[in-house]
Amino acid sequence: MHTLRPATLDDVDFLVDVAIEATRSRSPEADEPSWRQGFVDLTREQMTEDPAGTSVIELDGRPIGRLRVARHPGSVELCGIQLHPSVQGRGIGTAIIRQLQQEAAGRGVPLDLGVERDNPNARRLYDRLGFLQYAEDDREDKLRWRHDIWTNDLATTYDTPGVGMFSDDVLGPTTERLAELAGDGRALELAIGTGRVAVPLAARGVPVSGIELSPPMVEQLRTKADDATIPVTIGDMSAVRVPGEFTLVYLVFNTISNLLTQEEQVACFRNAARHLTPGGRFVIELWVPELRRLPPGLPATVGIADPGYILLDTYDVLHQHVTSHHFRFTDDSTEARLTRTPHRYIWPAELDLMAQLAGFTLESRHADWSGTAFTADSPSHISVYRLNAVRKDC
Ligand SMILES: C[S@@+](CC[C@H](N)C(=O)[O-])C[C@H]1O[C@@H](n2cnc3c(N)ncnc32)[C@H](O)[C@@H]1O
Repeated sequence: MHTLRPATLDDVDFLVDVAIEATRSRSPEADEPSWRQGFVDLTREQMTEDPAGTSVIELDGRPIGRLRVARHPGSVELCGIQLHPSVQGRGIGTAIIRQLQQEAAGRGVPLDLGVERDNPNARRLYDRLGFLQYAEDDREDKLRWRHDIWTNDLATTYDTPGVGMFSDDVLGPTTERLAELAGDGRALELAIGTGRVAVPLAARGVPVSGIELSPPMVEQLRTKADDATIPVTIGDMSAVRVPGEFTLVYLVFNTISNLLTQEEQVACFRNAARHLTPGGRFVIELWVPELRRLPPGLPATVGIADPGYILLDTYDVLHQHVTSHHFRFTDDSTEARLTRTPHRYIWPAELDLMAQLAGFTLESRHADWSGTAFTADSPSHISVYRLNAVRKDC
């Protein structure tokens, strides 16, 4: 049975030995003394910077490996895992990574790692464990695992035709305003989901494309519109590039908050800018953080308390995170299904600054799609940003 214990500076020699043994076969020509010294210096530096980040992996009380994990506000990062060759292939690495996946899922954040391109065995393991590539540098592929929220179950029950967010009262003004802002050009919806907005917008004659992370959500969209009518690229809205140029990019239903770090949210603005013609518009629909409802010492607010549905929001104000807990009751109210959605909340002023970083200027902000004035009491806003004509590449 393997266990983990925090490493101390007394473990440095072991940590270096095991890292060298675990990687020797991939670096047969390395000059061992300088390689070792490099590892010693690096290990000491890492342990000084983040004393809780390095652990010794033990098997029946005997040290067998090294694990380094960085815990960030918006992610858990697996920085390194090395096992002595004599214990490799026994499922210990897999078990540790699954433990980290559970930790990340519990916090509602992704688990990130980098894998060197000359390590196909590790890559196969990460592929098997459900990691997806989201970036790369000259040496490594960057992989990310997320607890899947937008599953088939959720996708098949997402649409409520004619009711709530699918009612004509909501979608009429939404699509009218978006069509007006698109003008004669094309529109791109980030996080298009099941096409709640895209399908009626396309029906108004606006050519719409989409980016979406969840294949099950797109499967539902495909029951309403084919790929020629609404082409969708599967991927992360803060990174993926779609062919063509657009006069309008839009991101509605609070979905920018699904990106859990400020860095990713800024990247999303930059990605929107990349798709726009000069002077094009980026429209965001977002709620105003409800911190006025959160007295000191109380970690949660009840947003909705209907007979069939309760929404409870728990806050981590240090990191601007809110987790929404959605309790949906069965018809006889004897049981409830719980889903959790993690968000990073954004103040309107911070949103404007993100826009500015990506080359946008705020053109208008209203409380709803019909143009009601935005005030200090508005619970949400529709913000329209215009891409500055002079600066396109950011
Ligand atoms: C609340 S739904 C909104 C869907 C649709 N825009 C609507 O208004 O009905 C959120 C959607 O965002 C998608 N999503 C979350 N994070 C994403 C990301 N980083 N990139 C692309 N899509 C993402 C989810 O898969 C889900 O379909």
